[in-house]
Amino acid sequence: MNKIEAIRGAVHSGLAHDSAIKHVTGRAEYCDDIAEPAGTLHAYFGVSSIAHGRLLSMDLSGVRAAPGVVGVLTAEDIPGHNDISPVGRHDDPVFPTETVEYHGQPLFAVVAETRDAARRAAELAKVDYEALPHVTDAVAAIEAGYPHVTPPLKLERGDIAQGRAAAPRRIQARMVVGGQDHMYLEGQISFAIPGEDDEVTVHCSTQHPSEAQHMVAHVLGVPSNAVTVNVRRMGGGFGGKESQMNIFACVAALAAKRYNRPVKMRPDRDQDMTATGKRHDFVIDYDVAFDDEGRIEAVEGEFAARCGFSADLSGPVTDRALFHADNAYFYPHVRLTSRPMKTNTVSNTAFRGFGGPQGVIAAERMIEEIAYDLGRDPLDIRKANFYGEEGRDLTPYHQRVEDNVIGRVVDELEASADYRARREAIIAENAKGGVIRRGIALTPVKFGISFTATHYNQAGSLIHVYNDGSIHLNHGGTEMGQGLNTKVAQVVADAFQVDIDRIRITKTTTEKVPNTSATAASSGTDLNGMAARDAAEQIKARLVDFAAEKWQAEPSEIRFIPNAVQIRDEIVPFNDFVKLAYMARVHLSAAGFYKTPKIHWDRASGRGRPFYYYAYGAACSEVSVDTLTGEYQVDRTDVLHDVGRSLNPDLDKGQVEGAFVQGMGWLTTEELWWDDKGRLRTHAPSTYKIPLASDRPRVFNVDLVTWNENRENSIKRSKAVGEPPFMLGISVFEALSMAVASTAGYAVCPRLDAPATPERVLMAIERLRAEGSKGQRP
Ligand code: MTE
Ligand code: HPA
Ligand code: MOS
Repeated sequence: MNKIEAIRGAVHSGLAHDSAIKHVTGRAEYCDDIAEPAGTLHAYFGVSSIAHGRLLSMDLSGVRAAPGVVGVLTAEDIPGHNDISPVGRHDDPVFPTETVEYHGQPLFAVVAETRDAARRAAELAKVDYEALPHVTDAVAAIEAGYPHVTPPLKLERGDIAQGRAAAPRRIQARMVVGGQDHMYLEGQISFAIPGEDDEVTVHCSTQHPSEAQHMVAHVLGVPSNAVTVNVRRMGGGFGGKESQMNIFACVAALAAKRYNRPVKMRPDRDQDMTATGKRHDFVIDYDVAFDDEGRIEAVEGEFAARCGFSADLSGPVTDRALFHADNAYFYPHVRLTSRPMKTNTVSNTAFRGFGGPQGVIAAERMIEEIAYDLGRDPLDIRKANFYGEEGRDLTPYHQRVEDNVIGRVVDELEASADYRARREAIIAENAKGGVIRRGIALTPVKFGISFTATHYNQAGSLIHVYNDGSIHLNHGGTEMGQGLNTKVAQVVADAFQVDIDRIRITKTTTEKVPNTSATAASSGTDLNGMAARDAAEQIKARLVDFAAEKWQAEPSEIRFIPNAVQIRDEIVPFNDFVKLAYMARVHLSAAGFYKTPKIHWDRASGRGRPFYYYAYGAACSEVSVDTLTGEYQVDRTDVLHDVGRSLNPDLDKGQVEGAFVQGMGWLTTEELWWDDKGRLRTHAPSTYKIPLASDRPRVFNVDLVTWNENRENSIKRSKAVGEPPFMLGISVFEALSMAVASTAGYAVCPRLDAPATPERVLMAIERLRAEGSKGQRP
């Protein structure tokens, strides 16, 4: 017989994103590309023009009379609940009835024949307010006695006082870390098509179709089984479509049912930026005690976040900031507290890393503080504090770090990037005192994988094998560019041993897999890959039973080989085998399920094992800074990142590169700015600068660790990759910090706040110069 070829698209092999060609040729279908049925209407929000106040009256007669307007919807038109809080706190109305809570808050929706007509009409409302005092940032909120939007978390281990007593050195300071707009290429969009009775179908750009479904049902006052939510793909989500799609989905559905016509809701970029939440910015007060060798003895940290007017996901986001405030470092004595502050701004939400990056950067700042205080290379301080053997392996939340590979990852990167020699050369070059100063930093990442809300760690799938041998694959995860569908299809191809082309990747829909979790926490592949494998294995088990009976063979004599099934010496092509099974009335469809084992978390006591495992990585970045203008560029970045046994090294590298650049953008040029009226003034790409292709590192070497596999039983021993490499961008920030420090002989920690925009870099240089250098101390 013929030599057995391997299947196309096997697991652990590089394979392009299933939609790559469609993405670049414009043939990939997004929500806005779905052909609009005749009679489709368009909805647009009218918004508040103050940051905080009582709503006295809304005169919408001008809106209603505008050309093309079909109607206006306010809170009074909601048949069910005027509440879209994703965490059941009832603090998130679709439309407010008494109090306006932020500038730009949607107050009503205009429904018109065209989107342009709706947008123009929305401007014609006459709204009377009684203005109330407002606060826009976390510090002002604390000063004004504003409440927490959700209960704070405290993580504690050891005895801070004892740790401090043992440590000869101590530094207390504050760091301000900015937020970030998601800037997905495809903005928020929902397209609702009314059905009979109470039914409605919503095509929605969302990471969380089940959430959108449940919210639409809640707002319409109908059971969830009346609502279908579909999404084939998103043009990026990055956390911004885990809960923030709710208002668009609900209002589109509300209008569709009200007028019994299809209704599309798509804000323009300005409204997308002003009316949807962003990454939380933090004000972090840290207090670190350490010895003369730079070993940390005690850490106390308070993490105050600008949450916006409602809780949204701020609880788990600020929790995750604390879970990552250790990064890769062991703190013998530690106390961390979160302060999720209410503010009169849009409600902040999930964004890649989900609060983790804000925790990690605090850890890295403390390391830098220690290094400057002792006049040492920060990398040595990092290494001195890494988690280690028993006794130095316990996190602030009492989970043991059992899979630690950070030491090896950092050592290998240090060598491959030639860190020490380059740092010496840079210090020598900077000592010449030129206008251009350079900096280099090598920073580690450890990131916990799992939703910290344990119940989210479940997934489902649905697989049909049609009797021609083609396979229909569905699962609860959503595709946002990360390549989830390709990876899950690889898993199914591997299970059946068929070419991946045989597997049809289909849209995510609440009709096929119910009660799904958000595709988030980087867990999409871990969860849905396992659920899909479960379904495939069920069908395979039935096929094996069938073959055992038909051929009178032992199950051990039946093997799935590439594109065929082998029974003893007989090889039957997969298609023929499936047809035979169908004729013998074998059930060729299965629903799969998976839940992550081992994890548990008790928030009240601050103890547990919230994470199934950790992903690790490190980056080394070199920058040059123009000390006359503060402008800079990234000259080179080297990355080594651990994805366990990669399911698809091509996609994983793409994730690492994209995450690095997005993380770099967060810490460099992306600045959100609210004025004293509470208006977000950076609400378009004209005023909000994300990295361009030309801003990427001039030399960019990205490698995946090839020697590690997940010690836990994850899908094919791979590790999650979506979020962890985001924090590799911190290497750029610390390299900038070094270049700034060089202007004062590295004598003081520059205490640069994030984002380190050119202005802020220039101000830090000026500040150091004004304070005067305390002498050369490289
Ligand atoms: N990659 C692309 N291209 N687009 C995205 O929107 N979102 C990120 C990450 N990578 C995102 C992305 C975020 S925030 C998460 S949580 C993960 O992908 C989600 O997908 P996964 O769980 O399948 O990795
Ligand atoms: N990560 C991302 N999204 C989430 C989480 C989390 O831990 N919890 C709830 N939504
Ligand atoms: Mo990602 S922030 O967990 O969607």
